[in-house]
Amino acid sequence: MKRASFLSDNCPPMGIYETLYAFRDSFGQFMGSPGTHPWSQGFPLTTQLAGGPPLPGSVDVTWEDRFYPKAWGHPALRSAICEHYNNFYGSKIAPENVMVFGGGRPGIYAVLAFLKKHVEVRIGNVEWPAYLDILTQTQTSWRVVPFTRENGFHPPNSAYFDRTGLNDKTHLFPIISNPGNPTGHTRHGEELRELIELAEQPKNGILLDEAYEMFHASKGVSGLRYVKDLDNSNVFLSGACTKGLQSPGIRIGWIIASKKNIETLANFSSFGMGGVSHPSQLYAAQLLEPRRVAQARDSVERHYTMQRTRYGEAFRKLGLEVYTGDGGFYHWLALPDGLSADELNRRLFKHGAAILKGFDCDMARPHDKNPDYRSPYESFFRFSFGPLLPESFDSDIALLKRVLDEYRADAARR
Ligand SMILES: Cc1ncc(COP(=O)(O)O)c(C=O)c1O
Repeated sequence: MKRASFLSDNCPPMGIYETLYAFRDSFGQFMGSPGTHPWSQGFPLTTQLAGGPPLPGSVDVTWEDRFYPKAWGHPALRSAICEHYNNFYGSKIAPENVMVFGGGRPGIYAVLAFLKKHVEVRIGNVEWPAYLDILTQTQTSWRVVPFTRENGFHPPNSAYFDRTGLNDKTHLFPIISNPGNPTGHTRHGEELRELIELAEQPKNGILLDEAYEMFHASKGVSGLRYVKDLDNSNVFLSGACTKGLQSPGIRIGWIIASKKNIETLANFSSFGMGGVSHPSQLYAAQLLEPRRVAQARDSVERHYTMQRTRYGEAFRKLGLEVYTGDGGFYHWLALPDGLSADELNRRLFKHGAAILKGFDCDMARPHDKNPDYRSPYESFFRFSFGPLLPESFDSDIALLKRVLDEYRADAARR
């Protein structure tokens, strides 16, 4: 007799990975192999950008690096992270405000795993697919904040802290990717200051996910600039070497929070994680060398603003609705003529391309794939220009045009 699994029956891969597996089944190759068009992929170029610094080629590993790592992170990396923020944003964080994780996701997962029951998450209706999986698996309660054409996919800060219908014991904890994945909308300057001010009020907190911190014309948007009393707050900032420092494969991320909250996370590491690879942490410390980062900020911003602008213009000419903000490395787009993102993908797969469906970014969708659910974002999709070389622009646009023309011709025949 077949035995039922002891593990959860509701643990599908994140939406992006489902697209990857569907692509492989249709095209016969993994997305990213030569000849494919990785428009669905959320990674940056991992090679030197024009005018950017070289990426370190090696790290020295000594006998000390083979010891168990410290639960909270390598002292050299914790200091480098502090300097990184304190120098650029004028903050005054100490190493005890920093906890190192094996990438951005594990840090976010750990914060949510230890949230108290009376803390309710507020999340934009359109956000990074992994949040939905993390919220579900950590049994966190959340409500969505409307993201619509009418509010430009950029609701006001106050929408995240609306207490209508709440009882007194509920505390509010928005999760916001800033710049946003998939929309590119970015809170900076006065708007970011106000967001942090709200997050520092009693009964409020925030998890501000700054994975795309360097991808904005201001060359850096961190809420840390505006935090007044981190140690007396429930402000959590998440950062990583994954995007702006162009190193997703080294798996280094961090959480910045009050010393008390960092202690809880470090205690978790002592029994649930065992710290993070020393070679990776040493590599990250090299990436964070101040002069190197200054050069990286310039080149990342220049390259990705150039790409965002020209892809956006080309998409408009193809008849797509463009709702992208001014940061990150994604376009947030709506399809014309009744075409759904699902059908677009089926057509793209044949040509070795794929996008991320808006459905996967819908934070109100059921996690268990109820077939009756209709997402408001079925005609929406995310186009990633993160991994694209400047040279692929013309062929990318030509391919998308061809697929849209084919759809229009088929629709006219029907
Ligand atoms: C919004 C957001 N946060 C965090 C991350 C970092 O993920 P990781 O470092 O685990 O790859 C990503 C990567 O896709 C992301 O898009």
